[in-house]
Amino acid sequence: MRIAIYPGTFDPVTYGHLDVIARAADIFDKVIVGVAENSAKRPLFTDLERVQMIRAVVRKHPNVSVDSFQGLLVSYAKRKKATAIVRGLRAVSDFEYEFQMALTNRKLARGITTVFLMPHEEYTYLNSSIVREIALFGGDVSTFVPPEVRRMLARKVRAMNARA
Ligand code: PNS
Repeated sequence: MRIAIYPGTFDPVTYGHLDVIARAADIFDKVIVGVAENSAKRPLFTDLERVQMIRAVVRKHPNVSVDSFQGLLVSYAKRKKATAIVRGLRAVSDFEYEFQMALTNRKLARGITTVFLMPHEEYTYLNSSIVREIALFGGDVSTFVPPEVRRMLARKVRAMNARA
């Protein structure tokens, strides 16, 4: 069985991520979406919120599961018996960071290969930080994220505004 991990911060998950998940689900027997718990990015959503959010939008893929992990990605991949790490590659600007990560992970774990998938060109410009910024300033994110994620973003922004 070919198992792949699709790791990321997913803060929040976007239509671009979902496009990559759908492509990976077509190629691999099993895809585990791995939400990184210890991201240096200080996410807007907690680990649990990001896991729940992704679970809510990948239901139509029976071979996709969602989980979170701490520590090194390759250690997690080995525990899950994955032989591939999937990453989305949108534009040349992604390349340097992805290249460094892929080669480092290969040095750390020879048996795990990073596979790059290109999301639909419609999502080339899309990333989570743009979506967060639009949501925080009250803009419409409905063309970037599914309705479940839009609702979670709206709730988060309301809670933040109520605290301020
Ligand atoms: O969505 P992101 O923020 O680009 O995902 C980055 C992520 C989570 C895949 C990367 O930071 C990661 O793998 N973190 C786990 C710690 C790790 O293994 N670091 C070494 C990577 S070379």
